[in-house]
Formats: sequence, structure tokens, C-alpha cells
Amino acid sequence: MAINKKFIDQFIQVTSKAAIASSYFVGKKDKIAADKAAVDSMRSELNKMDIKGQIVIGEGELDEAPMLYIGEKLGTNNGPELDIAVDPLEGTNFAANNLPGALSVIAIAEKDNLFKAPETYMEKISTKVKEKNVVDLDYSVKKNIFNLSEYLNKKPDNLTACILERPRHNKIINELRDLKVKIKFISDGDVSGALLVTDEKYSVDIFLGTGGGPEGVLAAAALDAFDCGFQGRFLFDTDKDKKRAKDMGINDLTKKYDLAEIVKGDSVFCATGITSGDLVTGIKIEEDKFISETLVTHKQSNLKKVVKLNQKIIREA
Ligand code: FBP
Repeated sequence: MAINKKFIDQFIQVTSKAAIASSYFVGKKDKIAADKAAVDSMRSELNKMDIKGQIVIGEGELDEAPMLYIGEKLGTNNGPELDIAVDPLEGTNFAANNLPGALSVIAIAEKDNLFKAPETYMEKISTKVKEKNVVDLDYSVKKNIFNLSEYLNKKPDNLTACILERPRHNKIINELRDLKVKIKFISDGDVSGALLVTDEKYSVDIFLGTGGGPEGVLAAAALDAFDCGFQGRFLFDTDKDKKRAKDMGINDLTKKYDLAEIVKGDSVFCATGITSGDLVTGIKIEEDKFISETLVTHKQSNLKKVVKLNQKIIREA
């Protein structure tokens, strides 16, 4: 089974409209308003679609999020059963401070094919290498770099690693420095960071480190379409997190997940730029139109492209 191609344009509209809604708040130092605008728009657009959708990754649990909460049913209920993962505003700091890289992101798979991820941190690694035993979350940084260096036939000092700049990564960063690996630091936005391994033009060979679990699942959907490798391991620190995980059906709390266990079967991924970043240009206004750019992938049809849309600006009277 596959996701009907007729839905792809509609999903592009969903993230494009959410990005436009959020773009009104760019640079206004209000993360919550920028996020809410994207959430409201995304929910209302998804509800217009002829699907029986269910949020598997969203804005939180029912008790924390009035909209796009995990388990929320979306769509007209008249169509295929789909799992939906959303990050209506990925990079709230970017949007609030008018910095590059804010995105509106969605990933869709058929029912029960997308990992239901709790909102905890995840250790992640992505590379363009799909083969097993080259790069692995269980290997040391040194072993991963040496294996990758051999596999890509590039000396370690010619490899580039992308990592979130956080104190928790100091050990990894020092190891990368000792190996003379070039480092591309990102201040936020690790969906985009993880996807920089998908194309030579980004000059990133490996993405690693700990970031949001939901962001890991979203990135995995696109990495699958790009035929890249990804592994993730959730980190459950508190008793509350551990209980949540068990309630969501995760029994082995230390399990390392391969991409194929996170996203199964067919999937669609859309990421629209709110502010311009590595992957796509942000929302622009030209005369009476909003111009949006969306990176879209569809696994089954091998679609991987950036789609530009024009939406007429409707001005209130
Ligand atoms: P928000 O859009 O929710 O602010 O997330 C931004 C982000 O940088 C993610 O891309 C990343 O996974 C996570 O935050 C990292 O978390 P932390 O800032 O706590 O290190």
C-alpha cells in the first residue's frame, strides 16, 4: 500500500499555510504566538482533508496541548487511515528572533507505520551511509569517524560533522576536534541539521548528538526517502518520562532504533521555510502574493524536490 499521490499537494499546502501564518510573528520575540499561529493553521488545514488522520507526534499530550496533541484525530474521517507527525514551528527561537532556519514540518505514513515518540531527548546519528556497521550509535566517535573516513575515502580532517552547540555535547566536540574533523555547529533546528547529509551541496558527512525525539522521527521520514542512514535512542530521565514511554508501548527504554523501525512503508515529508535556511528559503512577499518553498519527499514515488508556491494575500477590509 502507498499514500495516494493526490494528498501530496495538500500536505504541501498544509505546511505552506502554517509557515505563512507563523511568518507574521517573525522577529517579534514571541515564540508562543509564532508557534500558535502555525499550530492553528496546520490543524485547520489538516481537518479539511479527506483522511482519517491521527497525530502520533505533536504538541504534547492531551493535558498539555489543546491542539495537535498526541492521539488527536484529524481530517474529515472519510479517507485512508494515516499517522501524522507534526512540528508546526521547528526552531521557535529562529522565528522569534528572525534568524535563519525556522521551518514548518510534517511527516505522514500509513496507520501504525510511524513511531509514536514521547517528548524526550533522543541520541541521533545520520549519514548518507545505509550499510550496517559503518556508523553506529554504539560505536565511539573515533570508530564512527574512522569507519566513515574509510567508507567515503576521505581523510578525517576532510569530513564535516554537524552538531547542536550545547554543553552536553562537549565530550563529542572535543573528540571530533582531536580527530581534526570540521565541525558545523547549529544553534537550534536539528531536523534540518540531520538532513544536511542528504546532499553533497551541504558539505556535511555526519550529523550526531542529542536533540528532540519528535524531531528525530520527523527527520527519519525524509532521510528514508533520500536513502540515507539514521539511528536514534530515546533518553528517559525522569520517572514521568519512563511511565509515559511504557504507556506508549515502549518496553525497552534503552533500545537503539534503526530508521526502518521508526518509519515503515510509504511516507511523505514536507518542510516549508518560515525564515530562510540551508534547506529552503523562507516566506517572501512579492506584490500581492506570499511565496513559499517546501522540501517535499514521497518515499514510494522517489519524489525529492523543493516546491515553490504562490498564495494570494487576502487583506482584511
Ligand atoms: P523548538 O522549535 O521546539 O524550540 O526546538 C528547537 C530545537 O533546536 C530542536 O530542533 C531540537 O531537537 C531541540 O530544540 C533541542 O533541544 P534543546 O534546545 O533543549 O537542546
